[in-house]
Amino acid sequence: MNTLSKLALGIMGRLRPSPAKGESAVSIVLPPFAKEGGKPLYEVLAKRCSSRVFAPTALPLSLLSDLLWAADGVNRPDGGRTAPSAINAQEIDIFVALPSGAYRYIAAIHELHLIAASDLRKLTGYQDFVDEAPLDLVYVADYARMSMVPAAMRESYASVAAGAIAQNVYLFAASNDLATVLRAWIDRSAIADALGLNHDQQVLLSQTIGYPGNAR
Ligand SMILES: Cc1cc2nc3c(=O)[nH]c(=O)nc-3n(C[C@H](O)[C@H](O)[C@H](O)COP(=O)(O)O)c2cc1C
Repeated sequence: MNTLSKLALGIMGRLRPSPAKGESAVSIVLPPFAKEGGKPLYEVLAKRCSSRVFAPTALPLSLLSDLLWAADGVNRPDGGRTAPSAINAQEIDIFVALPSGAYRYIAAIHELHLIAASDLRKLTGYQDFVDEAPLDLVYVADYARMSMVPAAMRESYASVAAGAIAQNVYLFAASNDLATVLRAWIDRSAIADALGLNHDQQVLLSQTIGYPGNAR
């Protein structure tokens, strides 16, 4: 769907998910993530960039597993994560929009749990490439986990935490020759409705990841 159609439907509150493609498994047990490998850090930093042309090819489950661990997985026995958070509130949830459904990443058990049995990709941003790219991540802050943070600071701290996750994804993409772009131009209320978010949860950002496509 093109950007203008999405903007028009969004204004009317009629931007809706598409039917799921394939089976919407209730949970997906991710395979063990890679604990070594990847390109050297300086090479990855030199390659990091935003790309907006994606092939529709699905990422293999093993690559999705590595990606989500790199994004915000558990990297220490005490439950610490690959991305920082103020007072270790761990307030950001990653929602994963796949053709087969929308899932929440449960870092503690490294699994995906089904949230909506529909294809939400086109709802995750106004730009047209988000519809066909194989994977859109949505970063959602849960302010219920931030009771120790002064209310006036919660949104900015959560945005920083989401930004750290996004940079992890950028570096993972550079290391694995994937394309990615972080996006703030999104219809937050359409996404919140589709994910069934409560009043403590706020959609912050979205990020598309996939194999690079051919620019026309
Ligand atoms: C908070 C934030 C929001 C962004 N939102 C969008 C967006 O909605 N759409 C988009 O195509 N790129 C978006 N970007 C990507 C920027 O356009 C991109 O990072 C910038 O042009 C620099 O390019 P580079 O990432 O290749 O260095 C966003 C980046 C950030 C940090």
